[in-house]
Amino acid sequence: MRTSILNMLRNYSNEYLSGEEISRQLAVSRTAIWKHIQTLKQGGYEIEAHPRRGYRLKGVPDFLLPDEIRDQLQTKTLGQKEIFYLENIDSTNNEAKKQANLGCHEGAIVLSEMQNGGRGRISRSWFSPAGKGIWLSVVLRPPFHPYDAPKCTLLAAVAVTKAIRSVTQVQCGIKWPNDILYEGKKIVGILTEMNAEMDAINHVVIGMGINVNISQEEFPLELRQIATSLSVAADKPIPRLPLLQEILSALEKEYHKVIQHGFVEMLDEWRELSVTLGQTVDIIGASEKSSGLAVDIDKDGALLVEIEGRIEKIIAGDVSIRPRSKNLL
Ligand code: BTN
Repeated sequence: MRTSILNMLRNYSNEYLSGEEISRQLAVSRTAIWKHIQTLKQGGYEIEAHPRRGYRLKGVPDFLLPDEIRDQLQTKTLGQKEIFYLENIDSTNNEAKKQANLGCHEGAIVLSEMQNGGRGRISRSWFSPAGKGIWLSVVLRPPFHPYDAPKCTLLAAVAVTKAIRSVTQVQCGIKWPNDILYEGKKIVGILTEMNAEMDAINHVVIGMGINVNISQEEFPLELRQIATSLSVAADKPIPRLPLLQEILSALEKEYHKVIQHGFVEMLDEWRELSVTLGQTVDIIGASEKSSGLAVDIDKDGALLVEIEGRIEKIIAGDVSIRPRSKNLL
């Protein structure tokens, strides 16, 4: 009922809609409409009530509510059938894996206003304060071989970078394999997890942590020098909803492109958006450390690094960029 009322108010955008008209169209009493309007207001919706003219929607809360996401969402599948929205959860990736195992559709998304056990790569934790970021996991059931699954991370990095650039104008870039940086500091982290048989993928969960409106001082001390947010980069608050909608739309486009035409085009886009290629990088493995020039990525997404005249293929391990100039983007 509340969704229907909201949709009606949205359709009238800046005009008033009488309580009588709403109650007639939805076949409920005006008192019931009034009660629903009060609940919506408590939920953060700004609804103006005029004694003669009726109700007018003035503003929506900056929560990532399923109805708000679906409104004007330009996707065919992502976020269309199932949106699992939570105020608080340990990790959206954990919840997405649970839903995937229970048989949710491809394109289901899990969002939480905060995470109390957000996970990063290599067993790291992910700082996920309430209402200040987009903590999102997407369930895909890709038709390709499990061998190709790691490229989902590259695909997601391309999509998120494009979406951020177009919505916020923040010129962020991709650090191999899965970080999105602005001026050398991390703005987005991506964690892809897979459930597969030997030769077929059951599901892939792509988890994305996007630091949206976190001030530099709000980051824990140990992150302050290495992480930042879009609002810091843009020097203004960033509305999360349009950004989320654009991310879903860009992700779906990249995903369909890969399914239809393979990975070549996506890898080229990755190269264009990369801040790693052309940089001297430190390769930090389990026991050793070396450095060289990052020259390219290969068809599997492995980083190709020139070390003392040889080209080394880097598949696993953590690569940290050692910038030659401070103007790394
Ligand atoms: C990394 O850079 O190490 C990856 C960070 C991924 C964080 C996101 S936030 C949403 C999703 N849920 C998680 O627990 N992790 C990912």
